[in-house]
Amino acid sequence: MIDHLHYESKNPVVIVTGASSGLGLAFARLLDETLPEEISFWLIARNEEKLRRLADGMQRGTRCFALDLTKNDFLVVIEDALRSDGATVQLLVNNAGEGIPGPFDEQSVACHRSLCDLNVRAQVSLTSIALPYMEEGSAIVFTSSVAAFLPQPGFATYAASKAFVLSFGRALAEELRPRRIGVTVTCPNPMLTEFFTSEEKEKLLTSYKRFSIEDPALVAKKTIAAVRKRKVVVVTSRLGRLVRLLSKIVPQRWIIRFVAKAANEKP
Ligand SMILES: NC(=O)c1ccc[n+]([C@@H]2O[C@H](COP(=O)([O-])OP(=O)(O)OC[C@H]3O[C@@H](n4cnc5c(N)ncnc54)[C@H](OP(=O)(O)O)[C@@H]3O)[C@@H](O)[C@H]2O)c1
Repeated sequence: MIDHLHYESKNPVVIVTGASSGLGLAFARLLDETLPEEISFWLIARNEEKLRRLADGMQRGTRCFALDLTKNDFLVVIEDALRSDGATVQLLVNNAGEGIPGPFDEQSVACHRSLCDLNVRAQVSLTSIALPYMEEGSAIVFTSSVAAFLPQPGFATYAASKAFVLSFGRALAEELRPRRIGVTVTCPNPMLTEFFTSEEKEKLLTSYKRFSIEDPALVAKKTIAAVRKRKVVVVTSRLGRLVRLLSKIVPQRWIIRFVAKAANEKP
């Protein structure tokens, strides 16, 4: 993809999930600036109005799919579109995700299910239906998180979902190597996006995590650079790389206890 665009490819498309805000929006804008106009964009999120506004500013054919990725019927819509357009997926950015901080037993089963459906099931399912429409040189991005490196009391389901994405992406990268389809898992630190409520943002800005805040535009840039280099895992900040290293050398139970203690002051 990107550097190895096959101009003979039929209907080349880039799919970005969670494109209506935050990191997904940053991916869409960056890719619009850098990719040839022949490649169409398929943008997915629930908020149609935001998607349309973004599409209006794009320099290419852009389709908006206002879909809830926690519902099974999104698969039918995307699979039908891929089939009827005879599309070639040059890049799939599996980015949409959610996370509600707080103790596990204080959250509803509906919250936990929604998170697993969006952060795990949707990413696996969309990848599965898009793969037959990929070719040599195509690429897949998964948005994981630095939270993937450690179990995180106070954010347990979220951190576990991101660990799943990291593990899945790494294994898939190896499986798809013979087909020359690249897989990159990106692991950012906190970003001040709509992922957090304003109250959570305030807490974040007063917690130890404030030193690790990243800019979504920069995360997108580093991630796409990693896709170009065929890097499988990219940790987009120095602090994130330090956390990854510590998670390998310090006994995990110590770090988990530290995180649990700090949980009261973090979003
Ligand atoms: N922000 C952080 O601190 C941080 C750190 C590390 C990793 N990440 C990861 O980065 C990714 C992007 O998050 P972000 O920070 O950019 O958050 P964000 O601004 O809240 O963006 C989330 C995107 O996902 C879409 N989305 C949410 N629920 C959806 C659903 N059920 N169906 C379809 N689309 C849905 C949202 O659009 P609609 O509301 O229009 O559906 C939005 O476009 C996530 O995977 C997140 O876990 C975030």
